[in-house]
Amino acid sequence: MLGVVVKKSPVHGRGVFATKPFRKATRIIEYSGRRILWSSVPGELDDPRMYYFGLDDGKTVIDPAVGGNEAQWINHSCEPNCEVREKRGRIFIHALRSIKPGEELFYDYHLEVDDNVPRTKEIEQEAPCHCGSRICRGTLLAPSGR
Ligand SMILES: C[S@@+](CC[C@H](N)C(=O)[O-])C[C@H]1O[C@@H](n2cnc3c(N)ncnc32)[C@H](O)[C@@H]1O
Ligand SMILES: [Zn+2]
Repeated sequence: MLGVVVKKSPVHGRGVFATKPFRKATRIIEYSGRRILWSSVPGELDDPRMYYFGLDDGKTVIDPAVGGNEAQWINHSCEPNCEVREKRGRIFIHALRSIKPGEELFYDYHLEVDDNVPRTKEIEQEAPCHCGSRICRGTLLAPSGR
């Protein structure tokens, strides 16, 4: 049993929800899709690039539009219950703590801006966060200075 379902989220659009309990550290789902190069992806921070998942090599990105699954709908939270682990070029979503059926799944997107783009409030607000957590950074971008 897959153990997740895609449905309307109180945070944004569609999200992914647990339909069964997951223990801490369990692998929940792979972020699947075709592999393409960042260099072939046009666009700005606020466009469909946000559905792409960049791999650690800095060159490759997973495009869930082809061969993607439920994982592409997982929303961001600044206080997530999941984390992303990369293993040999594949991305897996794991539980950061035990998760109950009905809970929405979140990981921290840690979005990066290009090195040549200055980190400003305006840039942060191009990707605002509505996770509602007590420790919300207000943006989907990675904490500055990392
Ligand atoms: C991979 S999609 C996630 C699915 C999305 N909820 C949807 O229905 O299309 C990523 C986009 O969801 C939105 N999103 C995800 N987490 C968010 C959050 N915590 N606050 C605001 N928007 C969020 C942003 O627009 C982001 O670009
Ligand atoms: Zn937040």
